[in-house]
Amino acid sequence: MSSLIDQMQHHVSVRDFEATPLSMTVKQQLIVAAQSGSSSNFVQAFSIIEVTDAAIRDEIATISQSAAYVKQTGAFYVFVADLYRQATLLEKAGHSLAGIQNMEALLVATVDTAIAAEDMAVAAESLDLGICYIGGIRNDIARVAELLGLPAYTVPLFGLTVGIPKTKNLVKPRLPQVNQVAQNQYDVHQATNLVQYDQQMQNYYANRGRNQQQTDWSTKNTAFFSEVRRPAVASFLKKQGFTLN
Ligand SMILES: Cc1cc2nc3c(=O)[nH]c(=O)nc-3n(C[C@H](O)[C@H](O)[C@H](O)COP(=O)(O)O)c2cc1C
Repeated sequence: MSSLIDQMQHHVSVRDFEATPLSMTVKQQLIVAAQSGSSSNFVQAFSIIEVTDAAIRDEIATISQSAAYVKQTGAFYVFVADLYRQATLLEKAGHSLAGIQNMEALLVATVDTAIAAEDMAVAAESLDLGICYIGGIRNDIARVAELLGLPAYTVPLFGLTVGIPKTKNLVKPRLPQVNQVAQNQYDVHQATNLVQYDQQMQNYYANRGRNQQQTDWSTKNTAFFSEVRRPAVASFLKKQGFTLN
């Protein structure tokens, strides 16, 4: 097995960092990694905003309910799905903006942004740094956009906090491959036969170092998706110019 795959198998989200800021050299390497991924039609539809301003970071920390590890970390980035560049190109050329406003364009930008972030995350872990994605910024996505001065056709998707880990959690067991990987045809029975995984996760949640719980993966997912989350995201996307068609 390559050392990279071994590193990836040991990924854990880190929520407890040293206060040490990352050096410019390290930050530069992380950005290069984020920019190096594949990009649908090479549209490179993302921007990365490092938040260094204490007041902005404090407010984002509060919004995301992840204060400790957004405030005390090595660096904090917001990953923005970004079709604003393309909007200005179309406007200059006198063309309709319909091509960047639809759901397909938004999906393209979202995928590009996620690829960039995960490349940064893997690069950070290769430098023995820890990371945690912060989707909590979407608790008030409009305010985060305002704080960062984001124009139309941009969406702040998530933050990424990167720093020197103080403590680390146990690796979370992933779905068995039989539940998640298929050949040629989706197998509805295999995909949803979660008994074995639920037993494994019940054991994990009951015995992990912190925040022990009597639950399993199915119970957690049922609870999570039993309510509609962040309905304001859709109205924000429309306000940013996306039609969602
Ligand atoms: C897009 C995205 C958003 C996330 N948002 C948060 C967050 O706001 N706060 C947090 O503590 N963890 C967040 N996480 C981390 C997940 O909870 C974590 O990846 C998951 O529980 C699996 O654990 P692991 O990363 O330690 O393997 C997020 C992960 C992703 C991919």
